[in-house]
Amino acid sequence: MKLSSSLLPYFGLFSGLGQAIPTWPSSIDELEDVMFLDTGYKSRGFSSHITPCEFSEFGAGRQTAAEWLRIGFHDMSTTNVFFTPHGGIDGSIAFELGDGENIGAGFNTSLTTYSGFFNSRLPISDMIALGVYASVRGCGGPVVPMRGGRVDATAAGPAGVPQPQNGQGIFKNQFTRMGFNVTDMIQMTACGHTLGGVHAGDFNNIVTPGVSPNDFQLFDTTTSFDNDIAVQYINGPNSDPLAVGPSVASGRNSDFAVFTADNNVTLKAMANAATFNSMCTSILQRMIETVDPAVVLSDVIQPYEVKPTSIQLTLISGGAQIQFSGDIRVRTTTRSISSVAVIYKDRNGVGSTSIAASSSGTANGFDDSFSFYGFSSNLPADSSISSFTVAVTYTTGATQTYDNNGNGFPIQDSIIVQTPQSCQSNGNLTVIAAVRGNTTAPSLTVEQKVARPSGTPIPSLVNATVAMVGEASFGPYTLYSTSYTIASAAGTKYGVASGSFADTFKNAADLGVTCAPFGSAAPNSTSSSSSMPSTTSSSSISMSSSATSTPTLAVKPTVGAYSFQGCYTEGTGVRALTGASFYDYTAMTLEMCSSNCAGFTYWGVEYGGECSVAEYCGAGNRLELYKLTSQGSSSSSAISSSSSASIPSSILSTSSIPSTTSSVSSSAMASPTLHIVKSAGLYNYMGCFTEGNGVRALAAASYPSDSDTVEACVAACSPYMYAGAEYGRECYCANSFSAGSVIVPDGDCSMTCAGNQYEYCGAGNRLSVYVRNGTGNSSWSHDRNLLRDTDLNPGGSQERETISISAAKQEDMVFEH
Ligand SMILES: *[C@@H]1O[C@H](CO)[C@@H](O)[C@H](O)[C@H]1NC(C)=O
Ligand SMILES: *[C@@H]1O[C@H](CO)[C@@H](O)[C@H](O)[C@H]1NC(C)=O
Ligand SMILES: *[C@@H]1O[C@H](CO)[C@@H](O)[C@H](O)[C@H]1NC(C)=O
Ligand SMILES: *[C@@H]1O[C@H](CO)[C@@H](O)[C@H](O)[C@H]1NC(C)=O
Ligand SMILES: *[C@@H]1O[C@H](CO)[C@@H](O)[C@H](O)[C@H]1NC(C)=O
Ligand SMILES: *[C@@H]1O[C@H](CO)[C@@H](O)[C@H](O)[C@H]1NC(C)=O
Ligand SMILES: *[C@@H]1O[C@H](CO)[C@@H](O)[C@H](O)[C@H]1NC(C)=O
Ligand SMILES: *[C@@H]1O[C@H](CO)[C@@H](O)[C@H](O)[C@H]1NC(C)=O
Ligand SMILES: *[C@@H]1O[C@H](CO)[C@@H](O)[C@H](O)[C@H]1NC(C)=O
Repeated sequence: MKLSSSLLPYFGLFSGLGQAIPTWPSSIDELEDVMFLDTGYKSRGFSSHITPCEFSEFGAGRQTAAEWLRIGFHDMSTTNVFFTPHGGIDGSIAFELGDGENIGAGFNTSLTTYSGFFNSRLPISDMIALGVYASVRGCGGPVVPMRGGRVDATAAGPAGVPQPQNGQGIFKNQFTRMGFNVTDMIQMTACGHTLGGVHAGDFNNIVTPGVSPNDFQLFDTTTSFDNDIAVQYINGPNSDPLAVGPSVASGRNSDFAVFTADNNVTLKAMANAATFNSMCTSILQRMIETVDPAVVLSDVIQPYEVKPTSIQLTLISGGAQIQFSGDIRVRTTTRSISSVAVIYKDRNGVGSTSIAASSSGTANGFDDSFSFYGFSSNLPADSSISSFTVAVTYTTGATQTYDNNGNGFPIQDSIIVQTPQSCQSNGNLTVIAAVRGNTTAPSLTVEQKVARPSGTPIPSLVNATVAMVGEASFGPYTLYSTSYTIASAAGTKYGVASGSFADTFKNAADLGVTCAPFGSAAPNSTSSSSSMPSTTSSSSISMSSSATSTPTLAVKPTVGAYSFQGCYTEGTGVRALTGASFYDYTAMTLEMCSSNCAGFTYWGVEYGGECSVAEYCGAGNRLELYKLTSQGSSSSSAISSSSSASIPSSILSTSSIPSTTSSVSSSAMASPTLHIVKSAGLYNYMGCFTEGNGVRALAAASYPSDSDTVEACVAACSPYMYAGAEYGRECYCANSFSAGSVIVPDGDCSMTCAGNQYEYCGAGNRLSVYVRNGTGNSSWSHDRNLLRDTDLNPGGSQERETISISAAKQEDMVFEH
């Protein structure tokens, strides 16, 4: 749901001065989420690629944080302030990887990682800048102020990255061309070279092959962001390969050439830790704010105190009601919250109806913490809604009302996507929109990522606009529908627009595979559904009219052959259970949901109307998860044993309830269903595991792929004993587990595989782990305690030591002076 305009408003930004809490919605909303939601509920996982600081998902001898800092410099360093356009941080480096100035694997892999976050609201150039912020902060450095609003180049720019063999005079000229003086040049080089080192494989006349471990030599003696680079240069002993060693004879001792440009004055100052940090904060901010003058950057991004997320209106009850749902994110860095309420005005701006929100999860960034509060309420469709405020009551007893910098949080109800009635499967995207007043026919907009040719690691965004066809009217709304063929749901955004109103930026991957009929009545947690006047159904939007039953406000421990598993979050950007969705607003009961979902191992009920009886699990993005208790032990012993550990003790007694046979809906059985792949090739499912303590659980090899499946992952990992699929598209292999990896409920591994929507492939910080046939034994998944290497492989500790040795010799950060 957006503001009452199809254009993103940019108010509150662009002053270019100070730091202001943004007014919602804002152009930096997507960037702000990726910046601050590192771990926890609704986390975006950006920093997981650089955590811990010396980590690389691409194997030993690499340090992703250093690579992210390096690509920031390389993208900027072709700037020419004497010509238009300047260039600057514009992502043009994605088209320049073959030009001989950008040597090393880190450019391609960094851009590939950034591409996963890329969309029409988050350009690659802002990701490059954010990578600088994250790598510095994640490695213990200062907060580099971050602004959004960069504009991506669509082709290569001019050459001009400083190279190690250049002389001091050329360096000075190059930095002048970029807009920096000699002092700036020295600071930027020292701040860049506190992370990483030089690869012998890329620069054998700087680091002699076969000498350094992993053929890699650090610039200084630490992997973290500190002033060791300056201290060792001034006080010795100096191990910087760009100042001493073979680089001297080969004329590539570029750090020496740069640092002596002012007779060591700046480096001497930087030997003080506080001075180093303040100089780096300033020069790195200027580095990432080097953009074309036509680009207007936002204010420095501060986290919202209160930010609405996943706000959605949905027409229900045969057009009599609108379901208003979402999550409110509250910043909790400096205070604790007792309760949160959403207070809304009707569409005439009148009234103040309060809706209680309940805790749905917590998240953390480098410097901030957040709590989410979910809500869902059914409003009369006639009076509807126009805006809301948020009342936050602190544990001190004080209540503060957040009104979005005086504006209220705006909600338009002129056009809304009907997500329950929309669906996608096999590339067929069907979207239903409800248009109020039926005045202007709406259109569907679809934004897809399309791969570019010749190895360019970032995709292009391609838009399509499709007219929608009127179907039938319900209450004050008319429903419209259309279908459109998409290449893949992954990364595809869609929305609907009518006149100046729009409801956009929805993930196609969040839609179920089945379009639900438009029901006649809403579920109601406190009273039975009222019967609504029957309305003639249209050809594609049919009314359901089954009898109602009175739901109860309680968790049902068992329903049919299924038992209650606890409250689960949805996946990141995807439904936790995406095998199928069944909706019936008339009389959804757990029994009906159970019946609809027969054939699935799990099914879930979510708040408000979607297979729901009660807003019992905290509403938005929470599933009450039920598991088929009669599942044969032969096929799923690992599942039941590990899942049972998550069932609240109050529910555990239900496991003794004899399971009964549910009536099976044959249509649900006929199509492929989302499931945990039990075996693939020589590998058998072992369970859902966390990553290790600051290390990958399976650290020997990785094979990320947008076409990842369990089968592809185990095939890629064939030399190894363990294969783990993570985050839908990642695949890790090893012969042993790193310390700290523990088994967790199967339901945690809730993301579908990028290459197969019917298979689970882990989740954020969760691996679906497979063990080569004959070596696994699911019985130990009963033990949810720390699963140490020795439990799995006596050789494990040896491999862990290998990992920590490699972590101490990390990545190339040559600015190539
Ligand atoms: C370089 O520029 C910075 C920032 O504008 C300024 O403070 C500094 O004095 C300049 N240094 C020299 C040597 O001009
Ligand atoms: C600058 O420091 C380097 C490294 O300590 C030293 O070799 C060089 O002589 C110094 N130059 C000046 C002008 O102090
Ligand atoms: C796409 O799905 C919709 C809704 O299920 C259906 O009506 C339509 O025929 C499908 N289109 C194609 C090309 O399969
Ligand atoms: C980037 O890496 C991908 C995957 O390995 C490869 O296909 C592509 O050719 C690489 N691009 C460049 C410019 O090296
Ligand atoms: C594609 O649509 C998005 C909105 O969905 C818009 O921001 C973007 O500018 C469009 N891109 C092009 C190339 O038209
Ligand atoms: C109103 O909705 C109907 C479908 O119920 C459609 O046929 C008609 O064209 C719509 N009118 C306008 C003005 O959009
Ligand atoms: C739902 O419950 C509320 C609160 O008890 C009640 O006012 C409302 O009439 C009910 N709606 C329906 C459709 O039963
Ligand atoms: C496991 O290995 C045995 C012996 O090699 C073989 O007979 C069996 O089919 C294998 N099972 C799977 C699931 O690969
Ligand atoms: C797994 O281990 C348990 C306990 O150690 C043992 O009883 C069981 O036979 C083993 N199963 C297999 C298939 O090896």
